Amino acid sequence: MEPDCKTEVRRPILSISGLGKSFGNIQALKDVSLDIYDGEILALVGDNGAGKSTLIKILSGVFRPDYGQISIAGRVFRHLTPIQSLKNGITTVYQDLALVDCRDVPCNVFLGREPTRAGFFIDKKRMASETESLLSKLNISIPSLASNAGVLSGGQRQGLAVARAINQGGRVIILDEPTAAMGVRETEQVLELIGNLGRQGYAVIFISHNLHHVFSVAERICVMRNGELIADLCARDTDPDQVMEMIAGVRQKQGMGRTEVVNEAL
Ligand SMILES: Nc1ncnc2c1ncn2[C@@H]1O[C@H](COP(=O)(O)OP(=O)(O)OP(=O)(O)O)[C@@H](O)[C@H]1O
Ligand SMILES: [Mg+2]
Repeated sequence: MEPDCKTEVRRPILSISGLGKSFGNIQALKDVSLDIYDGEILALVGDNGAGKSTLIKILSGVFRPDYGQISIAGRVFRHLTPIQSLKNGITTVYQDLALVDCRDVPCNVFLGREPTRAGFFIDKKRMASETESLLSKLNISIPSLASNAGVLSGGQRQGLAVARAINQGGRVIILDEPTAAMGVRETEQVLELIGNLGRQGYAVIFISHNLHHVFSVAERICVMRNGELIADLCARDTDPDQVMEMIAGVRQKQGMGRTEVVNEAL
């Protein structure tokens, strides 16, 4: 599905087609299709239980879909394992960030993938210099690389987790509620980082309940409701009130190539 705001013809980096997933008798995802392009910042919004995390967990290989398929740069998968997902450039930064608090910045960026010298010694010098250039490329400011992750601010920790995702080869960076529980300044840093990732050509999918954050950085807004993708909107063609009404189910489906009334009572 070509989003409204993308007029030029180009190939999606990630294409989700007709995905469905149930947990017992709860249908968490129903026939969800979505194309994602390089360099675009897509916000995934929806009420609690709408299916957002289920969708990204399928993309990161945590859940297996019941039906549908996923294409990454033209390769088609019925389901992904976490390793396949990572190898194909999809990296997810979960809310807990999975940092090792008692290790320094380069150790966290290279966790489990440390470069070695003579095939044996961990190459600390290379880790530090590559970490430095990665942080500077992403405009992530961490005063000292020697700091342990545990002493960094929320925004710096998020930056570090994103740097690691990119160091792992991520092309599509998925962030599940990256600004939840953050202060104003930290939130600004994270939103700036998301904008920067888009400008560097990475595709970003981020989940947020905060429409102010969504509108400040996303170009495209996808609304989920009861497991369905009910709207695929260009941010500049909509506004927070309209999106809020869609989340609540009092607005028509939009940008989906069809128009249906979501809540017929209104
Ligand atoms: N592992 C699971 N086992 C059983 N049910 C699940 C599981 N994961 C999700 N669900 C159910 O699937 C539905 C979608 O959940 P999901 O976590 O995807 O929602 P969400 O949009 O991420 O919500 P939130 O905004 O609260 O994080 C919910 O009804 C949820 O209870
Ligand atoms: Mg969730």
